[in-house]
Order: sequence, then structure tokens, then C-alpha cells
Amino acid sequence: MQTKFNPKFNPPDPIYFICPSILSADFAKLGEEVSAVMAAGADRIHVDIMDNHYVPNLTFGPMVLKALRSYARQNHLEIKFDVHLMVQPVEALVDAFIAAGADLIVFHPKAALNAKALLNHIKTHGVQVGLALNPDEPLALIEPYFGEIDRVLIMSVFPGFGGQKFMPDVLAKTREAAQIRREKSYSFRLEMDGGISPLTLASCRDAGADTFVMGSAIFGSESYEKMIQDCRDILKIS
Ligand code: DX5
Ligand code: ZN
Repeated sequence: MQTKFNPKFNPPDPIYFICPSILSADFAKLGEEVSAVMAAGADRIHVDIMDNHYVPNLTFGPMVLKALRSYARQNHLEIKFDVHLMVQPVEALVDAFIAAGADLIVFHPKAALNAKALLNHIKTHGVQVGLALNPDEPLALIEPYFGEIDRVLIMSVFPGFGGQKFMPDVLAKTREAAQIRREKSYSFRLEMDGGISPLTLASCRDAGADTFVMGSAIFGSESYEKMIQDCRDILKIS
């Protein structure tokens, strides 16, 4: 069977990834929502897993990811799922998300029993791995792992809910991470998550981010396609 070709997805600048967070999607039609944002030009899907323990909110379990994987397969859609684990301890749930079909798993190191061992564990399953940093955590917490990871996720809100206000102070950490990446030629993607919209996107890019999680800005918009295109235009020209 052929993968459906999407003529609308022709990113003008492949350096930048736009990753809609389905936390703000209509849960009653999750498969259609994922398919709609992909057709509108999204690069990857961001899946926020919250456990009502590490963060106050409660969202999806691995069965939901598995169902989305299977929906994608049935509809011949090529979709990469980034799973953002906001759970503690991470070790208790990580294997279920690997089995459910995560393409990349990002976790918060302080929520892990042994972050170093967990990174290796995820990698041995052929799944990409990243580390996330809360607004009040220093870059030093994850810097020792920079050479071993695929993604650095700088949280620009405290994790737990969509639709929060962007915290500009965290841009200093993004700049620092980008500089270290340049100096040491690391290859991780530098991602920001929380309060990203057309208003905050250019400042994230200018700080060195290349991967942008967007929940409410995309799923709350009138047209997913127009919103994603507007974002690409901002990333390209501003
Ligand atoms: C927050 C989540 C985010 C959230 C972003 O804890 O990690 O991924 O969905 O939502 P917006 O873009 O609405 O801030
Ligand atoms: Zn997230």
C-alpha cells in the first residue's frame, strides 16, 4: 500500500519543525484531528502524557497512542509521534509507550530513577530520546547528556496544562543550549514547548530553537493550514 502523498506539505524551510500538541485537540475525534494537522503541514505530532502526580493534570495512556498509530496505518498516513512524558517515575511507563509506537520519547530527568540508564534503555529499543527542562531548572541538569540525545526540550511554561502564557525568561537557556550545540557540534534538535504562537515564535527561533510545540495556537485556530503556513512564513522571513 502506498503512503498518501500530501501536496500541501512542502516545507519552505526544513530546518524548522512544527509539532502540534494534541492536548488541545478535540478528544472526541482524535484520529481526524491528527490527520487534519498533518494534512495542514505539521511535521510531527506531540503527545503530552500527564499522570496527575508529576504534574496535576491527567491525559493519555499508551492505548491512546496505539490507537492513533493504528489509525495512521489504516489511513496510509506517515506520522511521527513525539511522546512527552510528564510522569514519575518515568521507568514505570516508558516500556508501554515504546510498545505503543513512540518515535521519540522525551522525559524530565528529575522524574526518572536513573536518567542515564533510562536514556540507554530507550535507545536500545531503536526509539529516539530527549530530555526536558522545566522553567526553574538549570541547563546544567541536562548538559552532561547533550552528546547522547536527539532532542532538548526547553519548557516555556510549567508543565501541566495547555494555553498558558509564554515565559520569555527561559529564552536565555535556549540561547545557551544553542551555543553549546554549535561549539561542540552536537546534533540534537532544540525544541520549545509552552505558549508558542505567532507572537512568540520568532523570539524562540532567534534564540536558536528549531522545533516548536504548538497546542492551543493551532487547535484553537480557525484554519490549521493557515496557522501553520503563517508560522512557516514567520520562521522564514521575520
Ligand atoms: C504543557 C505541555 C505542552 C502543551 C502546550 O505541559 O507540555 O505540550 O500542550 O500547549 P500550548 O501550546 O497551548 O501552550
Ligand atoms: Zn509537551
